[in-house]
Amino acid sequence: MKPEIVSATIDGFVTTDIQERGYFSNWNDDSVVRTRPYRYTCKSTDKDDPASGDWFFPSALTFLSNPLLAGLPQGQVQEILARNLITFLEYTTLLEHRIVNKSVQFIAQNCLPVSIPHGMRMDALRVYTDEGYHAIMSADVANQVSRIYGIAQENRQFSRIARLEAMAETFQLPTLGWFLIGFVSETAITTEFTKMGRTSLVPGVHNMLMDHLSDEWKHSRYFTGMFSYLWPRLTESERDFCATQLPSIIHECFRLDGSLLERDFCEMGIDSNIARIISEERGKESEHRLRARTGAVATLHALKSCSFFNDPRYVATFTRYGLID
Ligand SMILES: [Fe+2]
Ligand SMILES: [Fe+2]
Repeated sequence: MKPEIVSATIDGFVTTDIQERGYFSNWNDDSVVRTRPYRYTCKSTDKDDPASGDWFFPSALTFLSNPLLAGLPQGQVQEILARNLITFLEYTTLLEHRIVNKSVQFIAQNCLPVSIPHGMRMDALRVYTDEGYHAIMSADVANQVSRIYGIAQENRQFSRIARLEAMAETFQLPTLGWFLIGFVSETAITTEFTKMGRTSLVPGVHNMLMDHLSDEWKHSRYFTGMFSYLWPRLTESERDFCATQLPSIIHECFRLDGSLLERDFCEMGIDSNIARIISEERGKESEHRLRARTGAVATLHALKSCSFFNDPRYVATFTRYGLID
């Protein structure tokens, strides 16, 4: 049985106005695809000139400070950053198409267990369009940087995406499960980007990531609002489903694929043992749990805002995964 809804406003996230007009009612005037010039051309950098910028955030690759890599020439450091940028962008391209937009389709087509108001379904169509454009930007810059470094593009697959899709195959409530995957992905992604403000990146890369980020802040807010709209309207068994699936989805979203680093180091002629040692270090369960907990901070905050953790059973599940104390 569906619970009775006392108020349409949950923690100020979803008002009747938003239900009618959507979060992105001025999307024509502020989305990247509708308003920004295409300033994403990348050129080779001078490895001896620090002013030409980094290809990726060094702070995101903590393994660069590993003593095993001490003395690595600056040119190779930049190539590692460039290869990580390519990996990140190729992953982003697939994530937008196969994961986020699959999730968004179910909202736009009103396939969730709860009927979604018109404005919020229109928003889903806008997010779908944004993500399609982000995929173009990401694939284009990945291609440019691959050419600059002479790296063959081989239609890479990413185990995280395959694992999320495999998980979705097992969902008893498929459309709600897909919504949860979108909710976790879209609230987690912004933490990836927040590192960029402190780094001087190659201009075309900087412009592209900044533009992408400006949309993603809004997407994160939208998915948070969608969750706060759905949560009080779900039945108890639907809530239990969410509470069971969310921790495993969060964990999947932060699991690393060590083979990507090993392949890059191999192609660069760096001792394969170094990549293996670094991958083992990063792949430790304790490291993985720490990444999930810190990366999902916005997701966890959204859950708290909905009084999700009022149920001690849900607290126990999240505690078991190390996501909360
Ligand atoms: Fe995106
Ligand atoms: Fe997004």
